[in-house]
Amino acid sequence: MNLKAYLRSHQKQIDRALDRYLPKATVKPATLHKAMRYSLFAGGKRLRPILCLAAAEACHGKIENALPLACALECIHTYSLVHDDLPSMDNDDFRRGRPTCHKVFGDGIAVLAGDSLLTIAFEIVSKAKPAPRYDISILLGEVAIAAGSQRLIAGQVADLEAEGRKVNRRQLRYIHENKTAAILTTSVRLGAMSANAEPKKLRAITNFGRGLGLAFQVIDDILDVTQTSEMLGKSAGKDIAAKKATYPAVIGLEKSRAEARRLTRQAHDALSAIRSDDAEPLHCLANYLLEREY
Ligand code: IPE
Ligand code: IPE
Ligand code: MG
Ligand code: MG
Ligand code: MG
Repeated sequence: MNLKAYLRSHQKQIDRALDRYLPKATVKPATLHKAMRYSLFAGGKRLRPILCLAAAEACHGKIENALPLACALECIHTYSLVHDDLPSMDNDDFRRGRPTCHKVFGDGIAVLAGDSLLTIAFEIVSKAKPAPRYDISILLGEVAIAAGSQRLIAGQVADLEAEGRKVNRRQLRYIHENKTAAILTTSVRLGAMSANAEPKKLRAITNFGRGLGLAFQVIDDILDVTQTSEMLGKSAGKDIAAKKATYPAVIGLEKSRAEARRLTRQAHDALSAIRSDDAEPLHCLANYLLEREY
């Protein structure tokens, strides 16, 4: 499989759909819509929406049915980055290769652009064509829970509260499972749901998402230590400076790498209930995320 071509073609479809769903930059209030678009179209990797589409394909679904869900996930992810970068949170100046939203538009508009990206995600989900097993209320509930106060936001709260404190592996895993793995797991689950996946396949896809999702944040922690800001498109070396709870800080770099490999293997193994031809893009994506350099 040509992963590069796969990523490029899926990114293109996602970007085109996102452009259709987002109000134009000239629509009132123009500052807000400009700020939303500034962060959304800054060149993110689009991994969550791509994983959503790949999971739909693995369950024989149509891309067009998964596309609204994929776009909603990217809006939620981008909102979480805009808020994550705020001075009162991680205080980052650089994101996706450009100055952060609040650096360009000010803190107030950045908060509101984040609010609007989160809200529009639900509007986009409401436009999805549901499959027989999974109606719109199930899809909306799935997104709300993953983005909500006991998952993504719970992880962000724990991340802030852990700054400068000694955390154990259980607490660290809690942070990473919630701030990052929850949305990644929901990304593949929504793709499978859009394809009307039978329960057994949905379970396999869910377990794949959990392994891959946790591995993803472990790798993010590793890259913060090993890469340059230019390579990452965001400021490197910030986690040590901010005394963040990360895998390299708690178990060291080498053990973190081994842990990312172990979790990725777990993700591969979870897919055994799905025909290997159908699951090939998911397997390739898991390897790509493990080997990525940014
Ligand atoms: C960064 O996510 C934030 C984390 C949850 C680790 P990505 O590495 O997917 O960032 P973009 O979307 O490509 O900018
Ligand atoms: C981000 O974790 C998680 C969310 C945005 C929900 P990080 O704080 O490690 O992400 P980066 O390194 O700033 O992208
Ligand atoms: Mg953070
Ligand atoms: Mg951050
Ligand atoms: Mg990070």
